[in-house]
Amino acid sequence: MTLLDGKKISNDIKDEIAAIVQKMKDQGEKVPHLAAVLVGEDGASLTYVGSKVRACERIGFESTLIKLPHTTTEVELLNKIDELNQDDEIDGFIVQLPLPPQINEQKVLMAVDPSKDVDGFHPENFGKMALDMSTFIPATPFGILELLERYKVETKGKHTVVIGRSHIVGRPMSILMSRKGWPGNSTVTLTHSSTKDIANITRQADIIISALGVPEFVKADMVKEGVVIIDVGITRVPDASRERGYVLKGDVDFDNVSKKASFITPVPGGVGPMTIAMLLKNTLLARELRRKR
Ligand code: GUN
Repeated sequence: MTLLDGKKISNDIKDEIAAIVQKMKDQGEKVPHLAAVLVGEDGASLTYVGSKVRACERIGFESTLIKLPHTTTEVELLNKIDELNQDDEIDGFIVQLPLPPQINEQKVLMAVDPSKDVDGFHPENFGKMALDMSTFIPATPFGILELLERYKVETKGKHTVVIGRSHIVGRPMSILMSRKGWPGNSTVTLTHSSTKDIANITRQADIIISALGVPEFVKADMVKEGVVIIDVGITRVPDASRERGYVLKGDVDFDNVSKKASFITPVPGGVGPMTIAMLLKNTLLARELRRKR
């Protein structure tokens, strides 16, 4: 069994980007600038956005964190997005999801200038991705592709089973794994809450990508020998014995499933750090595209 070490690979990628940023600085060029908008005080979102901003600082990017109260109206958020769209200093920005109920997520994603949409959530970028055109690929799926590539995991002709059809992970992942090229060329089954007898489907999988958010959903009797496991789940499970009061659990029963797997991502330290690294990669791409304008 080989551990797909997202922590190590993401550090390699950050080092690669940091070297490029250093060159930009040496040549007196503007360095990439990422902004992140966080609405409300959700604990997990605060952690994720904080990690994104800290990663920017470590590799030499400029970063701006915009914290808005949970009472922010849709119009106020759309105005902020418009400001960021117009701001020449900002190369790319993200609006952290989920948003409070008074704000329509679709309206917000549509409002982001596609050339600054480093999350790759705007329909223009999502459509380009589905049509094999070059664009911003959503960071988590992009990170999974990068892990498969750097560990030389064969995907051609394999049966990939994706669990969960979210717009952020499951849906784009299903599209990317079916694309021509590598990683890709898989036969993809996208499973979701209405799927019947999911274990029967996962047992036929060569590659399982789980983005469900149900701790230890995937058990050893649901997978075949030699399976490749990508665990995107990261759920806070209350645990009084821990100082912070919770433990992080993936979608996969790691202890038992890892005995049957050929490759597997740990939680934490697998997909999570890759997401941040690929967001940085997209921001670098956004800067390069703006420079050429
Ligand atoms: N919430 C969970 N994952 C993500 C992500 O990749 N981007 C944004 N903007 N919000 C998220």
